[in-house]
Amino acid sequence: MSIAVNTKNDVFLINTKSTSYAFGVDDLGLIRHLYWGKKIGAVEELELPQLTEVSTNDPVFEITREEFPVYGGLRYKEHCLKATFADGTRELVYQYCGYDVEEGDDWEELVVHLKDNHYEFLMDLHYKIYPEYDLMERKVVIQNQTADPVQVEKLHSAQFHIPYEDLNFSNVHGHWGAEQQRFVQKVSYGKIVIENRRGISTHNHNPYFVLDRNATETEGEVYFGALRLSGNFSGVVEQTPYGETLVQMGLNPHDCVLELAPGDSFEAPSILCGYSAHGFETMTHNLHRFAQDHILRPGLRPVLYNSWEATEFHVNSRDQIKLAQKAAELGAELFVLDDGWFGERHSIQNGLGDWYVNEGKFPNGLEELIDAVKGLNMKFGIWVEPEMVNPKAQLYQQHPDWIYHYETRVSDTSRVQYVLNITKPEVRAFLYEMLDDLLTRYEIDYIKWDANRPISQTGPQRDVWYKHIQTVYGIVTELKKKHPDVLFEACASGGGRIDYGILGVFDDFWTSDNTDAYDRLYIQDSYSRIYPIKAMRAWVTDCPNFLSGRMIPLTFRYHSAMMGSLGIGCNILKFSTEETELSQRMIAQYKEIRPIIQEGEFYRLENPSADRYFLYEYLREDRGVFFAFLPQSKVGHRGTTIRLRGLEENATYILHTSSKGEIAKSGGYLMHHGLEVKLNGDYASLMIRFEKQ
Ligand code: DGJ
Repeated sequence: MSIAVNTKNDVFLINTKSTSYAFGVDDLGLIRHLYWGKKIGAVEELELPQLTEVSTNDPVFEITREEFPVYGGLRYKEHCLKATFADGTRELVYQYCGYDVEEGDDWEELVVHLKDNHYEFLMDLHYKIYPEYDLMERKVVIQNQTADPVQVEKLHSAQFHIPYEDLNFSNVHGHWGAEQQRFVQKVSYGKIVIENRRGISTHNHNPYFVLDRNATETEGEVYFGALRLSGNFSGVVEQTPYGETLVQMGLNPHDCVLELAPGDSFEAPSILCGYSAHGFETMTHNLHRFAQDHILRPGLRPVLYNSWEATEFHVNSRDQIKLAQKAAELGAELFVLDDGWFGERHSIQNGLGDWYVNEGKFPNGLEELIDAVKGLNMKFGIWVEPEMVNPKAQLYQQHPDWIYHYETRVSDTSRVQYVLNITKPEVRAFLYEMLDDLLTRYEIDYIKWDANRPISQTGPQRDVWYKHIQTVYGIVTELKKKHPDVLFEACASGGGRIDYGILGVFDDFWTSDNTDAYDRLYIQDSYSRIYPIKAMRAWVTDCPNFLSGRMIPLTFRYHSAMMGSLGIGCNILKFSTEETELSQRMIAQYKEIRPIIQEGEFYRLENPSADRYFLYEYLREDRGVFFAFLPQSKVGHRGTTIRLRGLEENATYILHTSSKGEIAKSGGYLMHHGLEVKLNGDYASLMIRFEKQ
């Protein structure tokens, strides 16, 4: 049993393999945080210290480390929940009503029951732990058992207390084409807020927190949590005047009110969280393993070819078949037809919403292309953007009231499209039927689901920010029940929908429209900290790259894309014989190492050189692979030393090098002495496979 309760003083201790989390109920009935960090001893050792106010201006509520602060009384700190009752009372006063524990195969869940002391309004604090992964999922479930509606104006899923000041906070910033740009900032007095208000999701910040005490990959304390929600989230980090750092995360209260009718309950999205005493690598490994075992669909992801960068909107059956033939010759396993196959879709101006096959482009129907793809022994995938409609589309002409809008305002377009109000039952039903029909009528194995603009003019409902994304999850979940073998890729103008909310509902992320192999190294590095490699789609594309204009050798482009789930997005019909042969070799190599890449442990290796080498290792049981990239070299530049990690000290490993053939080295040598490597020229890269003898 990993959950221990001392009923004498109502103290709870939650243990995972190497961490502990503790809280208790005090004499005021407040749920007070006690500890989060390295594993500690028995629950009996924990006590709730008596609290007295610092001064009349620092009341006891302010200094109490509450597990779930509500709005009310002498509380001025960030609260997790604010509700207004029908009589106008705008505060909550909770009391502790007991707890329950449930157990599953590899998890246990503690639920602490709270209730308002006047209104029949319940708050259940959930702590679901996965001891073997050193992870916990926290959330709150609220329930209105009063006879009247209750307005919920703010709901953050949990509060965390970190017993330090001067922490480093890291997350990502970015925009279209430059997602996942990692930043680190010192936490000081005041608050750091990260959020998304765009509805669809965001390329800007990502819904997670990482707080560390000058940690490295392998050393130092790290506290982290990832919110399982797409769309509008907010997160607050605050170093308080009382010697600790608070974090909370959940639904963004911006323009959002949830109305709970009598009897309604609402489950806030959970936060997957943990503590590492050994740097960022442990955080990454725990999250990756958990995602792999508990969230992602099992199985390896196919090597895909996507025709978007080759043909854009100018798709037709004949050219797509030619591309498919070439893709099969290279070794691709899945052919994805991107935007432009439907309605009057010749550019961004029209077509969205009219999901019939364009007869001019596919005179013999989609079947001709699908049969050709299947005949080439590949799977078939197709692009859709179901949440959107172009003003010129028939769908909009027939149903102008199906978009988010205000009757008295002109609705904004973006990329010449409106957002459908999919929270309306008839719109949801239309989308589900359209997609179900597509999947029933055609042999489709893969859906790339895109969303290319934020939501605006949401109409009178103030819960659509939340409901919109839940409707997307709901449609895909329902489709998967009926079409269980279809894989779904989450795309939103590139990497705009990468989060632990959509992961599991969808199977892959389109990481970024920026397919420049050098820029991707930064994007992939940041992505890898939190999200699993298997879900990271990475394509090799043409040079000069359409965004950066950069020329990068094909080998470097392959190596960069082989770090995730490999895809090819080049105009492969223009490939020279050398490019074709190189691609065939690279794709064949990728298939060999794919289980290690997609399901192994991932290491961001240290680069001891003065030159900017990017070094990464993947290890799965006895087999591994590592990559080295040198985007730019200076005259007289230095080499680097690659020190691998995670090996057995005394075992012998065989490395397959292209320059020196097979090399045998001990785990100790490879991890401590390391391999000296000097790459030459710009955009140089190398990949070496190894296995234990
Ligand atoms: C944005 C996506 O990120 C691209 O990969 C492509 O599918 C286009 N949309 C198509 O319009």
